[in-house]
Order: sequence, then C-alpha cells, then structure tokens
Amino acid sequence: MTLHLGSIAPDFTQESTEGTIKFHEWLGGKWAVLFSHPKDFTPVCTTELGRVSKLKGEFEKRNCKVIALSVDDVQSHKKWIGDIEETQSTKMNFPILGDADRRVSKLYDMIHPEANDTLTVRSVFVIDGNKKIRLMLTYPASTGRNFDELLRTIDSLQLTDNYSVATPADWKDGQDCVIVPSLQDPEVLKAKFPKGFTVVKPYLRMTPQPNK
Ligand code: BEZ
Repeated sequence: MTLHLGSIAPDFTQESTEGTIKFHEWLGGKWAVLFSHPKDFTPVCTTELGRVSKLKGEFEKRNCKVIALSVDDVQSHKKWIGDIEETQSTKMNFPILGDADRRVSKLYDMIHPEANDTLTVRSVFVIDGNKKIRLMLTYPASTGRNFDELLRTIDSLQLTDNYSVATPADWKDGQDCVIVPSLQDPEVLKAKFPKGFTVVKPYLRMTPQPNK
C-alpha cells in the first residue's frame, strides 16, 4: 500500500520498550510523530533519541505523542537506552518499537532497498488527531534530523487547520502568515483578519499570525 499525505496511518500491534502497542489505540485521538532509526547502537540515532526525549515537553504542548522504531528487538533497545541516557544526559521518556520482523517498517515503507536492503531509512510521519498522515520526511541514514524543524511544521499544520492561512518560507511561530488565495470576499477577509493585511500582490497577502 502506498502511503500519501491524507492516508490513514496504518494500524499495527507491535512490542515496544513500554510494552505492547496497539497503534490506533495508543494514538488516542492525539497527534503523533512516528520516526524510524536504521539500527540500535549507532551514533546518529543515539543523538536523535536523546534530543527527542529532551523535547518531549514541546511535543506535549502541541498535543503530540512521539514513538520511535528501530529494526532490532526490544531487548536490544533496552540495552541501548542505557547508552542513550548516559551519553546524551537524558532520561528516555517515549517508546521505541521493536521491529525485528520488519512488520511496521514494511507497512510504512521505511526500507528503501536501493539505499540498504535491511536497514530502515530515517522516516518521519506526522499523524493528526484523526489518524491521518499530514507530513512525511525521508532522510538518509547518515544525516541526523532537525527536530526543531519538525516542531515548526507541526505548528504550521495546526495553525493552518484552524485559520485560512498558509505559512511562508522559513516561517516560525509568531511571524506573519499568508492568506489563502481562495479567500477573496472583502467582508469575509475583514471578519477573519481583524488585525488587517497587506496586499503585496493580489495573490500574496500577508497578515499577522491570527492566533497570537
Ligand atoms: C547512525 O545512526 O549513526 C548511522 C546508522 C546507519 C548508518 C550510518 C549511521
């Protein structure tokens, strides 16, 4: 099955470092980030998992859970967690799925055979409160991900779900947004954007972030 933006995130039951996860039940109506790691006891992954455990509070502010996956088994993950906590000065605070049988990796197309037959690439799926996939990222094994960028994209998705705006290049929470081009009725514009807006071009209209 090919996954697209808007697809329902496939359900699965799999063991994790925090016990058995029935994925849809675990989501529980919250947003979630599911991200994969090529292998246990690898340097880049070790830094990534440490970073995400330190950012857990930021994900929670966005009503978002986090869950990692690595293709080794849970016993191996549990040993690795000791190293992550020691070297990254943190306490792991979210589950890592075991996936020795590759069930979840295959379901989410996380193994790209042209890159590597057995290891997963660094996939990220952002899933919304309706279990829909809203963002997919694919990084190579050798490049650690930027988790501030991930938080930024969740901010953008949650903002644009609720207001008739989109977010421009390099936008950060609190900065001006663009008004969606489909909105043209002057009365509606006035009601939706009481802080006003600037017409740079008829199709490029900037407004202060509506929820600030
Ligand atoms: C790493 O996480 O450090 C890594 C994993 C697989 C290949 C290269 C690097």
